[in-house]
Amino acid sequence: MTPMALQGRVALVTGSGQGIGQAIATLFAERGATAVFSDVVHGRAQAAAEATAGAGYKTEALHLDVANPGSVSAAFAGIAERHGRLDILVNNAGIGINAPFVDFRLEDFELSLKVNLTGAFLCGQAAARQMLAQRAGSSGERRGKIINIVSLSGQRGGLGRAGYGASKAGLELLTRVMATELAGSGINVNAIAPGPIATELSAAVHAAGGTRDAYLFLTPQHRYGEVSEIAQAALFLASADSDYVNGHTLNVDGGFGAAGLMYPLPARPPAGAGS
Ligand SMILES: NC(=O)c1ccc[n+]([C@@H]2O[C@H](COP(=O)([O-])OP(=O)(O)OC[C@H]3O[C@@H](n4cnc5c(N)ncnc54)[C@H](O)[C@@H]3O)[C@@H](O)[C@H]2O)c1
Repeated sequence: MTPMALQGRVALVTGSGQGIGQAIATLFAERGATAVFSDVVHGRAQAAAEATAGAGYKTEALHLDVANPGSVSAAFAGIAERHGRLDILVNNAGIGINAPFVDFRLEDFELSLKVNLTGAFLCGQAAARQMLAQRAGSSGERRGKIINIVSLSGQRGGLGRAGYGASKAGLELLTRVMATELAGSGINVNAIAPGPIATELSAAVHAAGGTRDAYLFLTPQHRYGEVSEIAQAALFLASADSDYVNGHTLNVDGGFGAAGLMYPLPARPPAGAGS
């Protein structure tokens, strides 16, 4: 991949005032994109964009509540007006509310779906409409890249994950529908499923019970991932290097999704021992 793989692209990352989203938007700016930092907490988006702009990159900050259709329309209209195009969308904004299934409150279930699934639907639809309306690049370039941030909790039945897991499983399936429908129009849609990543969200959600210890045990690499490791995967899916990758979920999870039975293996004899 060339160092300026995203030169000339306009990229919107939702929920990029902190955590994984901030790391993705920052890396996109470093690789030449105009990075639009957006968050429901505007001050966060502003601080993140300013930190990157200070290093000489092209950034801007936007208030965007992905769960509010009016806010989504206004944000995408503003991007179209200022830039005339949108090349990359990362649906990253998300919330995690965990509770036992029998006690899960309806309002929390509905809020999980509204932010994590409906929010990505609204932004994905607005982005796809903009991408379809703009001219494809010369020499057969793809028109756009959409990346949805899903979760291991949407792939397995984790404790307490009724709302969060259902929303992320829905988003993973929506990724495949979008990819199938939009592939012929030059738009790639893929997902990234992060494993446990050290962020404010995981610090809050994993604090309960033995969640942190369970993740460390169940992840073959036995550590939390870094936000930069998710950003690198997003860069690949946003760049031309992944033009033939479509409808795929890329797990960046230290092997969690691959693992089965795990227990300490007996130590191997030193090289040359025995006959
Ligand atoms: N951290 C992990 O271990 C982990 C694992 C798997 C998936 N994920 C997913 O990655 C994404 C980012 O997670 P994170 O750990 O960086 O979280 P985080 O809480 O640190 O950051 C999320 C950001 O999204 C913003 N946000 C929340 N609701 C929003 C809304 N309605 N509209 C716009 N912005 C909103 C928040 O203000 C915050 O700045 C989420 O979708 C999360 O589900 C995280």
